[in-house]
Amino acid sequence: MTEPISLPACYNDLDLSFEEAWRLVEAGTSDRNSPAHMPAVGTVDETGAPQLRIMILREAFRDTRTLRFHTDLRSIKASQIHNNSATGVLFYDMSAKLQIRMSGQTRLLSMGDIADTAWNSSTPFARRCYMAEAAPGTAVAEPSSGLPEWIQGKQPDEAQLANYRPNFTTMLVEIQSIEWLYLANAGHRRAHWQWCDVQKTWQGSWLIP
Ligand SMILES: Cc1cc2nc3c(=O)[nH]c(=O)nc-3n(C[C@H](O)[C@H](O)[C@H](O)COP(=O)(O)O)c2cc1C
Repeated sequence: MTEPISLPACYNDLDLSFEEAWRLVEAGTSDRNSPAHMPAVGTVDETGAPQLRIMILREAFRDTRTLRFHTDLRSIKASQIHNNSATGVLFYDMSAKLQIRMSGQTRLLSMGDIADTAWNSSTPFARRCYMAEAAPGTAVAEPSSGLPEWIQGKQPDEAQLANYRPNFTTMLVEIQSIEWLYLANAGHRRAHWQWCDVQKTWQGSWLIP
């Protein structure tokens, strides 16, 4: 006899699916073991080609539809965002059998309260990445971390880090659309929500998976 298939409450419920999508993404900011902690973030390069990389999700604000990431202001992704702010963020929760694709526009905020708070609340080791002397992605003749010799293998103090603060920026992705794919033997489910700026609401619909 075949086992009954257990399906989540959101399986046939569009509103609950939307809630579940944000719940999973928000969990990624506080739980290092959450699959949403390290999404793939996509930008567009100068040839129009997509460029993806893993990034740590620092914060997710459902009310403002914003995801926050941290990066180096000199990085290749930062210059891509300057040219084209279109950004995609891809999450996959294997145990929940859920794929979530978010897309929107990114602002780089390197100064002001948000960036200062983000910088100050990061650990010294995390901030040491911003001490690289040349921009991330610069070609070098020998293998190198890019860090100054005197800080290799050491934890910088606040005074040492302060000189490198200008290299740090927050990346705020304002989400405009969300796509959800739930895999189930009983039948997959796919849904899409688009932010409607005029009505200030999300408009959702089911899609054929
Ligand atoms: C587990 C993991 C976490 C990462 N987190 C970040 C991050 O939070 N910010 C970041 O700029 N790069 C992060 N990276 C490095 C990026 O994937 C990427 O290699 C780097 O940012 C350079 O990308 P770019 O040349 O497209 O700018 C992480 C890489 C891994 C493997």
